[in-house]
Amino acid sequence: MIDVVRGDITAISADAIVNAAQSSLLGGGGVDGAIHAAAGPSLVAECHEVRRRDLPDGLPPGEAVVTGAGDLPARFVIHTVGPKFWEYSDGGVHVLARSHASSMAAAHAVGATSVAFPAISCGVYGWDPVNAAPIAMRAVRESLPQAPGVRAVTFVLFNDEAFDAFRQALDGG
Ligand code: APR
Repeated sequence: MIDVVRGDITAISADAIVNAAQSSLLGGGGVDGAIHAAAGPSLVAECHEVRRRDLPDGLPPGEAVVTGAGDLPARFVIHTVGPKFWEYSDGGVHVLARSHASSMAAAHAVGATSVAFPAISCGVYGWDPVNAAPIAMRAVRESLPQAPGVRAVTFVLFNDEAFDAFRQALDGG
C-alpha cells in the first residue's frame, strides 16, 4: 500500500523514516536537520560510528544505511543521499530511483513493515517535485516485490507543491 500525506516526517510513527541526508551523514538543514533535531544527539553519534566503522569516505549518492531513531517515534532512520540535480546531465534520474530502491531494500532487511519517505532531492538538491515524484513512485512500486516485508509506504510532503506532485504521481498509476 502506498500513500501520500502532507506533514512533518518527524511526527510519523512508521517503523522506518527515510532521511534525505548528505554523504557525511552528520546532519544538515531541511529534513536532515529536522530528523536530527527530533531524534536527539544519539543519532549523530551513531552516524559518526557508522562513518568510522563502515563508511570512512561517506555514503555515496543512491546508497542507503540504517541507524536507530533516537527520540523519534520511528524505530529506524534510513539515511540515503539523493542526486544533486546540477551534477548530472539528466539531474541524476537513476541515482534518485536507486535512493528509493536502496531505502526499500534496507527497510526490508531490518524488518521494517512501514516506511515513510520525504521528497528526496526536492529541496537543497534542486529537483522539481513534479519531475521527482513519478521517478520516486515508480522506484518504490518496482521495489515492492523484493521487499515483501514492507507492507506500507507513505510519502510525507512538507509543502503543497510536493504534496500535489506526489498525489498526482500516485493517482497516475
Ligand atoms: N518533513 C518532511 N519533509 C521535509 C521536512 C520535514 N520535517 N523538512 C523539509 N522537508 C522537505 C523539503 O520541503 C523538501 O521537499 O524535504 C524535501 C527534501 O529537501 P531537503 O531536506 O533540502 O533535502 P535534499 O533536497 O535531498 O537535500 C539534501 O540538504 O539538508 C541538507 O544535509 C542535507 O545536504 C543535504 C541536502
